[in-house]
Amino acid sequence: MRRIVLIFSFVICHVAHCAAQAIDVDKELNYCHRQVTKALQALQPYDFTMMPRNILSDDGKRTKTWNCRKAVAEEWCSGFWPGILWMDYETVKATKTKGDKSGASISADSLRRVAEGYTDVLKPLAYRPVFDHDLGFIIINSFLKGYEQTHSEAYRRIALAAADTLATLYNPKVGTLLSWPRHVKDYQGHNTIMDNMINLELLFWAAANGGCPLLKDIAVSHAVTTMRHHFRPDGSCYHVAVYDTLSGQFLRGLTHQGYADWSMWSRGQSWAIYGYTMVYRYTRDPFFLDFAQKVTDIYLKRLRETSDDWVPLWDMDTSDDSKFKDASAACVVASALLELCQYVDGEKQAAYRSAAIKMLVDLSSDKYQSRGKNVSFLMHSTGHRPAGSEIDASIVYADYYYIEALLRLKAQQ
Ligand code: GLY
Repeated sequence: MRRIVLIFSFVICHVAHCAAQAIDVDKELNYCHRQVTKALQALQPYDFTMMPRNILSDDGKRTKTWNCRKAVAEEWCSGFWPGILWMDYETVKATKTKGDKSGASISADSLRRVAEGYTDVLKPLAYRPVFDHDLGFIIINSFLKGYEQTHSEAYRRIALAAADTLATLYNPKVGTLLSWPRHVKDYQGHNTIMDNMINLELLFWAAANGGCPLLKDIAVSHAVTTMRHHFRPDGSCYHVAVYDTLSGQFLRGLTHQGYADWSMWSRGQSWAIYGYTMVYRYTRDPFFLDFAQKVTDIYLKRLRETSDDWVPLWDMDTSDDSKFKDASAACVVASALLELCQYVDGEKQAAYRSAAIKMLVDLSSDKYQSRGKNVSFLMHSTGHRPAGSEIDASIVYADYYYIEALLRLKAQQ
């Protein structure tokens, strides 16, 4: 009898272990490397001033390769492509892939040179007057990812300069960074969008790496003010919060890219999950850890209620008949949960880790991976549904957070 119980326990443990390991991370990272290699072949001769942005489902003949946008322009996505290259470089360097003469796989050395090319072109953005809050996204994804790999002093200095430039958007009366200076008139006030939580990482990083310590205070103030006004009681967020520029008073919450002012725009909520988890990383204040869990728990609850898999609809409340998915939101959340699960324990840790793995399993299926269809990693992201742009598309930021999540999972194995 004792033997039967032991065998039974072994089977249960084995099944649980297999479920947790249902993704072969090395296989998926190799897949990413093959897609990067194909993309780089298509981008030659390299023009570092043009950054991959999307591959649209109705691109016709061009569906196989990236549509690019000017890197140093009013473009928020310029950092993602260099970031992908730095993360692929990390993978290839670790596996000591030499590349092969057939061109089927680019070598680590070549990859590094291309990553440097696409990163270095962004340098002027650190020193010119800031266009908007997305400067954080751009520099974190390019120079900070590059700094992790190279410890380049030049990259550190550029990132520090960019943090000072980003901080010029701070309004002390409100307590947050202004997201879109160009929309102050439209919104009749200081606007802060949930996406802006991600940019705080540049300020935290700078304060911890030789920059002005006040940058951390600004980031904390932004996170606290956002927590106070940008969320509904259940932990779901507005996309945009508008404040009186002079008095700092909160005026209203509304949407820009979501279905409705009251709805849960999936990527907006994903920025909140990633953002508050990152704020906890830099502050170790349990106040932020509790909040990161609150914004995560409502996302996971709504996801299970509204989606047939672990990839959300573009908005959890959409009545859109076409029910477009947003793979990019799933990638951001998967990456965030793999960090958040390390800060909690017991059932919470298991639940977050398991949810992240299930997201990655779905994203790595033939339903979402682009494979032979185009050179990106993933399909089925939605950029800006209300504006009718980048719907059901491959978008560069989905790929960025997908490979980041895979690397985080690999580091934990
Ligand atoms: N930060 C813009 C977006 O998430 O689409």
